[in-house]
Amino acid sequence: MNDFVKVVEVGARDGLQNEKSVIEFAQRLTFLNLLVDSGFQSIEVGSCVSPRWVPQMDKSAELYAALAKPEQISLSLLTPNLKGLEAAIAVGCKEVAVFTAASEAFTQKNINCSIQQSFDRFQPMFELAKQHEIKIRGYVSCVVDCPYEGAVAAQKVASVAKQLLDLGCYEISLGETIGTASPIRVRKMLEQCIEVVPIEQLAGHFHDTYGMAIANIQESLNLGLRVFDSSIAGLGGCPYAKGASGNVATEDVVYLLEQSGFNTDIDVAAMLKAGAYITSVLQRENQSNFVKAYGAK
Ligand code: HMG
Ligand code: MG
Repeated sequence: MNDFVKVVEVGARDGLQNEKSVIEFAQRLTFLNLLVDSGFQSIEVGSCVSPRWVPQMDKSAELYAALAKPEQISLSLLTPNLKGLEAAIAVGCKEVAVFTAASEAFTQKNINCSIQQSFDRFQPMFELAKQHEIKIRGYVSCVVDCPYEGAVAAQKVASVAKQLLDLGCYEISLGETIGTASPIRVRKMLEQCIEVVPIEQLAGHFHDTYGMAIANIQESLNLGLRVFDSSIAGLGGCPYAKGASGNVATEDVVYLLEQSGFNTDIDVAAMLKAGAYITSVLQRENQSNFVKAYGAK
C-alpha cells in the first residue's frame, strides 16, 4: 500500500474567500505562517481574481510575497486568467491553479464565461507558465452536482479533467462543490475519471454540506486516490454556490488518515494551533468533529 497521502490545505483560499468579513492582511499572514509550520506539503495562499468579485482575496499576491517560503513546501495561488497569472509571476510564485467546471451554468456564474471559453483563457497561461517554469494544478468544479443544473454526468467530468491534463496540469482536483454527493456517486464519477487521467494525478476536493465528505474520502481512498484538499476548521464554501458549506475539515481528514495507517507528515499540535488562531479571528466555531471531541477532553 502507498501509505503517504498528500493533504492540500486550502483554508486560506477556499475558506477565507467565503467569509462575510474581509480578514486583515496581517491576520491572513499569521494564519498562513502557522499553516507553513504545520507540515503541509501544499498550501493555497489565496487567489488572484477580481477584487470586485471576491474582495476577501484582495492582495493575495502581496501575501505570497510576504510569506516565509521553506523550499519543500508548495505555496500556490488560484489564477483565473492571464492577468492573475501575471500577478503571481510578479511575486515569484512557482505554482498556480486554474479552475473551470463540468457545468456550463456554474462556469458562467463563477468566472463569467463558458467551459470552452475558460479553456481559451487557459491556453496562453500555459504558454507563459512554461517560460517561467511554473507548475499548474487544475480544478474541475461540480463533479457530482451543480447548484444550477443538478446532477452532472460523470463522462462530462472525465472529459473536462482530461482536457486539463492535456493542457499540461500536473494534478487535477475534482471539486465536489456543494457537498451533496454520497460515496456511490463519487465512485461512479471517479471510475470515469480514472479511465482517462492517471489516478496519481487526481485529487479529491470535498465540501461537507451534507456531512458526507469523510465517507466520500474513504471511498476515494478505496479506489486508490492519495491527494485530498481540505480546510482547517472546515472553513470555506464558494461564493457562487449558494448554501454550500465549507470544505471538509483538515483535522478530520488527518484523523481518518492516521487512524487508517496513512502517513501525512502533518504536525497535529501545530495544525490545531493554526485552527485555534483562525477560528478566534473569525469568532466562529471550529467545524471539525475531531477538534470538538479533542477539545472537550
Ligand atoms: P470578468 O468581469 O468577465 O473579466 O471576470 P474581465 O476580463 O472583463 O475584467 C473585469 C474587471 O476585472 C477588470 O477591471 C479587470 O481588470 C479585472 P475593471 O477594468 O473593471 O476595473 N480583472 C482582474 N482583477 C484582478 N485579478 C484578475 C483579474 N481579471 C480581471 N485576475 C474573472 C472574470 C474571472 C476575473 C471574474 O469572474 C472573477 O474574478 N471571478 C472570481 C471567481 C472566484 O474566485 N471563484 C471562487 C474560486 S473557485 C472555487 O471556489 C471552486 C473550487 O474551490 C473547487 C470547488 O469547490 O468546486 C476551486
Ligand atoms: Mg472548493
